[in-house]
Amino acid sequence: MTRTLQGIVEHGDARGRQLGFPTANLQTDRAAELDGVWAGFADVEGFGRYMATVSIGHRPTYYPDTAATLVEVHLLDFDADIYGCRVAVELTAFLRGQVRCANEQELVALIAEDVRVRRRMASADTVTALWPWMGQISL
Ligand SMILES: Cc1cc2nc3c(=O)[nH]c(=O)nc-3n(C[C@H](O)[C@H](O)[C@H](O)COP(=O)(O)O)c2cc1C
Repeated sequence: MTRTLQGIVEHGDARGRQLGFPTANLQTDRAAELDGVWAGFADVEGFGRYMATVSIGHRPTYYPDTAATLVEVHLLDFDADIYGCRVAVELTAFLRGQVRCANEQELVALIAEDVRVRRRMASADTVTALWPWMGQISL
């Protein structure tokens, strides 16, 4: 089942860019029940539709004791300042839960793998778009 949420991009800590995975942080109120890392799509107002990996949670690696839930969208093959834009996100697959990493390298390796998995899903998305009935077949 695809879940959707949308919000306006606000400024984050800008740490994502340093890690190599910049994120658009969304201001949205219905995220807590979606805690985890997701694959999906993001429609960015004025830019179009992009593949995305989405982190929903409280960044346990950095903030083990806070409960505030953040929605952070990493857009694949995209680089522009979209602060203030409306972004609509479709979560198509749950990838994993949030992990409290021992260090930054561990976190970067995890996120890089999330992005690889998302890219591999792209070929499956294409098949479903061209032949929707194929998604109905169970073997
Ligand atoms: C695909 C993806 C997966 C993530 N997974 C985790 C995670 O398992 N644990 C964690 O503490 N943070 C995770 N994060 C959040 C990063 O810690 C966060 O994006 C980074 O610290 C930058 O934060 P900022 O946008 O506030 O600068 C993930 C981010 C992305 C994009």
